[in-house]
Amino acid sequence: WRILVLHGPNLNLLGVREPEIYGRTTLSDIHTALTARAGARAIIESYQSNHEGALVDRIQAAMEEGVDFILINPGAYTHTSVAIRDALAAVQIPFIEIHLSNIHAREPFRRHSYLSDKAVGVIAGLGAFGYEAALEAAMDWLERETNP
Ligand code: DQA
Repeated sequence: WRILVLHGPNLNLLGVREPEIYGRTTLSDIHTALTARAGARAIIESYQSNHEGALVDRIQAAMEEGVDFILINPGAYTHTSVAIRDALAAVQIPFIEIHLSNIHAREPFRRHSYLSDKAVGVIAGLGAFGYEAALEAAMDWLERETNP
């Protein structure tokens, strides 16, 4: 499988940024852990951008590349971006939404997501492990959906 891992704004600062909320794991640690967990089952590509349009472009390119599944932590765009929602709907690639923190236990404006109702599933509050849980769920989902 080809699995694309997308990280939105400020997630490049992971490990340094508010570690009491987001932990000490870096994006590169997450990529390494996902690659190890995927083994021969999936090719993992990771992409981070602080720019909404760049994320939209990356989602559109994923369709051309035949990406099978997207794991996305949209960062603050979760709560604002109709454009990222529309891009995911346009490419019709199944996705899981991930948040390191429990967005339901923070400021009220973080409770709403523009993506969740379109996602295969949503993981929040499990820190960096959430990405690994999402990867397992994605590989499982792909195996189930393509070998009915
Ligand atoms: C986040 C939660 C968002 O509300 C926030 O804007 C982020 C990170 C998370 O992973 O917990 O940038 O998506």
